[in-house]
Amino acid sequence: MSRRFYVTTPIYYVNDVPHLGTAYTTVVCDALRRYHLLRGDDTFMLTGTDEHGLKIERQAKERGQSPQEFVDAMSAPFRTAWPALSVEASQFIRTTDAAHKAFVQDLWTRIEKNGDLYEGTYEDWYCVGCESFKTEKELLPGNVCPLHQKPVERLKEDTYFFRLEKWQKPLLDLYARRPDFIAPATRRNEVVSFVEGGLKDLSVSRTSFSWGVPVPGNPRHVMYVWFDALTNYRSALGNGENTRFWPPQGKVVHVVGKDILRFHAVYWPAFLLAAGYREDELPSQIFAHGFLTVDGQKMSKSLRNAVDPIRLARELGPDVLRYHLLRAISFGQDGDFDHAALIERYNADLGKNLGNLLNRTLGLCSKLTGGKTPQMGARTPLEDDLVARVSAEVATAAEAWESLEIHRALEATWAISSAANTYIDRAAPWASAKAGDTARTETILASLLEVLRHLAVLAWPAIPGKANELCGQLGVPPIAPRQGSDLWPTAFAPRAGGEALGTPTALFPVIDPDRQKELLERLAPKPAEEPAPAAPAAPPKAAPPADASGSITIDQLTAVELKVGLVKTAERVPKKDKLLKLSVDIGEPEPRTIVAGLALTFQPEALVGKRVVVVANLAPRDFGKGLVSHGMLLATGPSEALHLATIDDAVAPGSRLK
Ligand code: MSP
Repeated sequence: MSRRFYVTTPIYYVNDVPHLGTAYTTVVCDALRRYHLLRGDDTFMLTGTDEHGLKIERQAKERGQSPQEFVDAMSAPFRTAWPALSVEASQFIRTTDAAHKAFVQDLWTRIEKNGDLYEGTYEDWYCVGCESFKTEKELLPGNVCPLHQKPVERLKEDTYFFRLEKWQKPLLDLYARRPDFIAPATRRNEVVSFVEGGLKDLSVSRTSFSWGVPVPGNPRHVMYVWFDALTNYRSALGNGENTRFWPPQGKVVHVVGKDILRFHAVYWPAFLLAAGYREDELPSQIFAHGFLTVDGQKMSKSLRNAVDPIRLARELGPDVLRYHLLRAISFGQDGDFDHAALIERYNADLGKNLGNLLNRTLGLCSKLTGGKTPQMGARTPLEDDLVARVSAEVATAAEAWESLEIHRALEATWAISSAANTYIDRAAPWASAKAGDTARTETILASLLEVLRHLAVLAWPAIPGKANELCGQLGVPPIAPRQGSDLWPTAFAPRAGGEALGTPTALFPVIDPDRQKELLERLAPKPAEEPAPAAPAAPPKAAPPADASGSITIDQLTAVELKVGLVKTAERVPKKDKLLKLSVDIGEPEPRTIVAGLALTFQPEALVGKRVVVVANLAPRDFGKGLVSHGMLLATGPSEALHLATIDDAVAPGSRLK
């Protein structure tokens, strides 16, 4: 039976660029949604950006931009980042959307009518990074926020208070009646003890700045950014047919980092209850995941920016990054993103396990059955064991996906692949072929192809692109979920013999030690270095440290990735006299967009077909209005008389300059 499944990521603050932490949550939500798509469920995934508040207003001012200009420019990279990780969200919400603002004002009015908002004055410590007031006992000596490691500010102003204290008992009742409202259990216990410790009324409006949703009837106040932000989960559904995703009709899961659990598990249900939502109209579950470290180091802002998930996806393929994130980290726990482990896992799980199973099976088919599907015959105990194992792991994987134990679902899926590799060795189709026992040989190969078909489906939520390539090689149609049709494999039913198989190619070519070394040098931040910030339009970064003679090391040189690029198209950028927007082939599946200050020297047409030198690993730079540059061209001279560094036509786009 088709169910409804609505999953949300937090909406991300636009004072930062997409990074590995936010990529992690987003990929998790996409994988969960894909699992439900496979089951034929009616699904919806929401992501977006959180654009109001003091932090944003201040940053815009520092850049000399209006808040609206700033958020328009900074939201765009989030919209483009997630599809590069094969994330297909149903909607991308921005809290500056008019419909969202109207919805928030309506929620506010409902709460006010119910008597849960009142005016007063508030004075306390405030962390702008968290956009949250802090009690003294939450601070480190010197009044420093433990999360942001920055001193908090003393704020005193007129405010509206939300009667949070009144909701203490109903919240505790809710947690008791719905034990899985907050997950994992350890996090739930933390929230319960926090609420048991007593709730104080919450300041939910501000008068000292204006970048927020105005309070209805009192525009001197703007709403507290968390009141505005949390409401996105409901405002995005509007008042039309998408409300079918809201409880009690749909299952709603909010996936959040542990740092923002309290806002979701305490404030959000309290706001909804105060606005008149019933307990069964609250979200189904708030799931708090852990924090990632990178190669064992805490993700400081600069380190976060040094590990660009989009670049990793471009280099290794989105599925490789997705698989590692989903498999290496026990969902709900803290975990480490280790670059060397990523490559090892790629070689082991993807290359040697799944990739090899496919290779061996198709290789044997092309040798022994002329590249056609073999005919399944009588099963022996070997096949019975294999089938029993597969069906047990398929059941485990489903149960694990349902309970959001994503790493366990993938463990079960890859256990099937390991079992099939062991089965080939035991069943030894080459031996039966040598003995002329065609029926037996075909039965073994047919069983293997059926396991691989199972694997394509089971792996699709994590590695959608590769799962479909796998389908192509098996000669079966790509996975195309349809509502109401459950694609989860239930029966072991090999295809008829004599059908076409696809062309075998290595699904996950092994990364040999040389390439591994080269990749690690390029992709992994060096432990001793303080990596350069990558936020768009950030202040110019310091040159890498040179030694006393001014020399740099070979490592510092190779950190800059110079590639040959072929200019495919070039056009002027409206209202920007100096800029040209180019699409440049640098040997990747899609040409890169590069925005360069070339327009005072070159006519756009003159550049098409030129082979240029591209700095390929420069952090993306946002030029606003959705225009993001992914690289830089080397040139010399003043803006009106530039000479581009070029290379002759014999060199293929994508060649590395060393
Ligand atoms: N805007 C708020 C959320 C509002 S939701 C109604 C916010 N934004 S954020 O951009 O700062 O953070 C978004 C998410 O990224 C949070 O869930 C946070 O936990 C997550 N992460 C930030 N750094 C992280 C890691 N190092 N590891 C894992 N997740 C991390 O908070």
